[in-house]
Amino acid sequence: MFNEQWLAELKSKSDIVDVLSKFVYLEKKGSKYWACCPFHNEKTASFVVNPREQYYHCFSCKASGTVITFLMEHEKMTYREAIEWLAKRVGMTMPEEEDPQARQARKQRESALAAAKEAAHFYFEVLRSERGEPALSYLAERGIQSKTVTEFGLGYSPDYDSLPRYLSSKGYSVETMLYAGLVTRNDQGRISDFQAKRLIVPIINARGQVIGFGGRVIEKDKFPKYKNTSGTALFDKRRTIFGLNRIRKLQQSEDQKALILVEGYMDVISLTQAGIVNSVASMGTALTPEQCKELKRFVNLIYVCFDGDAAGQSATWRSLDLLKEAGLEVKVVSIPDGMDPDDAVKKGGKEGFSVLLDRALPLIEFKLQTVAARYRLDSPDGRNKFAKAALAVLHDLDEITRDVYIQVVSEMSKLSPESIANSLRDYRVETPRSRPTQAEESPAEDGFVLTPELRARIIAARYLLSSVFAHKDYVTIDALQASYFDYPVHKSIYEYLMRCVSARRRPVIGDLYDLLPEGRGEIDKMIEAIDKVSLDKQLTYYQECIRQLDAGKVQKRKKEIIEALKTATDPDTVQALKEELRKLTTK
Ligand code: CTP
Ligand code: MN
Repeated sequence: MFNEQWLAELKSKSDIVDVLSKFVYLEKKGSKYWACCPFHNEKTASFVVNPREQYYHCFSCKASGTVITFLMEHEKMTYREAIEWLAKRVGMTMPEEEDPQARQARKQRESALAAAKEAAHFYFEVLRSERGEPALSYLAERGIQSKTVTEFGLGYSPDYDSLPRYLSSKGYSVETMLYAGLVTRNDQGRISDFQAKRLIVPIINARGQVIGFGGRVIEKDKFPKYKNTSGTALFDKRRTIFGLNRIRKLQQSEDQKALILVEGYMDVISLTQAGIVNSVASMGTALTPEQCKELKRFVNLIYVCFDGDAAGQSATWRSLDLLKEAGLEVKVVSIPDGMDPDDAVKKGGKEGFSVLLDRALPLIEFKLQTVAARYRLDSPDGRNKFAKAALAVLHDLDEITRDVYIQVVSEMSKLSPESIANSLRDYRVETPRSRPTQAEESPAEDGFVLTPELRARIIAARYLLSSVFAHKDYVTIDALQASYFDYPVHKSIYEYLMRCVSARRRPVIGDLYDLLPEGRGEIDKMIEAIDKVSLDKQLTYYQECIRQLDAGKVQKRKKEIIEALKTATDPDTVQALKEELRKLTTK
């Protein structure tokens, strides 16, 4: 996205110790800095900042990264925002500032954000004025208190004209209002408030910017019930989660490890009022991978609360799988009697709702229960059918978890674990796109299949890279060969090293996190690999790794030669190939 040269300059001016000091208290010990980790609660420092390598690492919660990832994770900035923040700090102009078109777009976005904020302010003030009466009585009827209204910045649009008139008086152009989706223009050119006569729920992003509005009808017979800002450059429903701005604030003062995901604005508002403060809403539609990633930036555990009938629906399952694929631990909360979270918390209060949370099922158990509910487990035929249907659920699990749940399905179906395991093996063969199951040690990447041989090579390659970044004197970058690296992340790291050599830049681990955001797990493993071998054995281990990787190369070449010999006709070529094979074999 940014020119590598420009980024390198920005990074060289953004020393990790300087930047992180603004957010955490760092204490120097030797060549490193230590702190209590800002990403989890702790009393003794296990968060270390390495100025030489320009990265941080928490030995306890394993958070790690660079100045950029720090801003993204701690301050919940996007990548771009982090870059902008750093550039501003050191007085560098963003590269595209020279491009008049890009500058124009940025200006437009900034004034649209300002207009949306001003609109939120307007709606909020109207709600508390005489003109807000209809909405106020609606809120009162629903039991929403004044404190909650303020907390969520709820508002009211009185009519079609007031908002545009107000925004004009504040100096905003009609173009800006249209750009932000605040107003519409009809065929006669008349401008009117998009949310006219609706109760207003401002939609605020994680950084606290008002990006859109949800408008709810307050008269029962009008519809659609909600109208959301749509199709603007500020608000993309597929990327937005309602309520994250509040979660961010919450996390600044307390440890919030879990979020409760509900469907509606009103569910979040109602739960918060009842004292359950960590809920967010997907805003009605099926989740997208982008939304799941966004959630993962905040927590590792998510309680998903669906309205009663949603459990068995395939859209629901897809959403749950997406959350899991984003790396979240998923628990599913069932709300009884067709209630939604709003109803449930009104009925049972904070305590009642907490009981529902305690009873939440891990994703896999939820799935098995949902499948089981379709069959009669009191008949042999029903149990058989259940076991068959359960294979699809078991199939998605990693090896260890699978064994546990084979046992569970065995108990439920009264079939032996062995026969279930057998059917599962057949099931896997039948499915066309079954992914390899990967044990802890193996790097995970779509489409990358690991054989034991390949795994050994990857461990060896990882150790070589680890040695390079640990600046061990027994290794030089020149000793590395492209053929050593099979795993995509390793290949990219190797290419990065080559670029450093040609640009005469010193390679730093910090760059890797920014370069390969998806490869962070592997980068962490790579960094740690060196420390798993004791100092006195490191050199020998290194030589062993090289031998192994070279052997792989020889094996590969031998196979190629043997293949080539099958078709070669030219006597000279045949002679040369045989000669090479002989050399390789006797070496
Ligand atoms: N939604 C929407 N447009 C609709 C209906 C729903 O965008 N016509 C979205 C809203 O974000 C809404 C969510 O889907 O919050 C869930 O819908 P629902 O449960 O019906 O809304 P609640 O927030 O529970 O609102 P209320 O209790 O006022 O009905
Ligand atoms: Mn509702």
